[in-house]
Amino acid sequence: GKPLVIAIDGPSGSGKSSVSKEVARRLKLAYLDTGAMYRALTWYCLNNGIDLTDGAAVEQASKTMPLEISTSTGTEYVAVNGTDITEEIRDPRISSSVSAVATTLGARTELIRRQRRLIEQHHHRMVVEGRDITTVVAPGAEVRMLLTASEEARLRRRGIQLGGTQSKAQLAAQVIQRDAKDSTVVNFTQAADGVVTLDSSDLDFEETVDIALNIVGKVI
Ligand code: C5P
Repeated sequence: GKPLVIAIDGPSGSGKSSVSKEVARRLKLAYLDTGAMYRALTWYCLNNGIDLTDGAAVEQASKTMPLEISTSTGTEYVAVNGTDITEEIRDPRISSSVSAVATTLGARTELIRRQRRLIEQHHHRMVVEGRDITTVVAPGAEVRMLLTASEEARLRRRGIQLGGTQSKAQLAAQVIQRDAKDSTVVNFTQAADGVVTLDSSDLDFEETVDIALNIVGKVI
């Protein structure tokens, strides 16, 4: 088929992952969760005793990490060196350290290189989700979207996702502080030129997916 890269960026709790997966499923496209790659690298560094403030060591780890990531819709699978870490990379231990890894520029360069290679391997037919996909990884994507939501909506969704056991202050610490750290290296709060903003604050999941599919429909 013709190239169809759908790049979707947004902050945490915006519904980015669930919406991206559903768009991929509906369009029968491959799906890449780039956040999972930063999480896997964080896991790999922590498990190898690498100091996350040592940029050169983190960069080196990004190059040697034997990462396996599923790109087929509906099968979430992330492994490093044969160890299945699909679930573990969602742990607070990883979430609280991932920004340190993601702000290491050398490691970003390497992960971006791997992401572009995966897009090529899928003949440029893929939904790719993250923070810098519309701007850095695939600025030439056929469809570029910024999925946003109010802080209130994002905290509510993340709270539900984590089982509703955390206080609002705990959630805010996790979501808002991580976004603040991440935004020191990538701008995912404002849409770049040519990027469509989809604000899901007052939309439910189905409505958001419908609008996203409509945006895609306009270019294909
Ligand atoms: O999307 P998710 O919350 O799983 O991403 C985890 C982390 O990976 C983010 O907080 C950010 O530090 C990093 N990330 C990034 N660039 C991307 C995707 C994720 O820096 N394209």
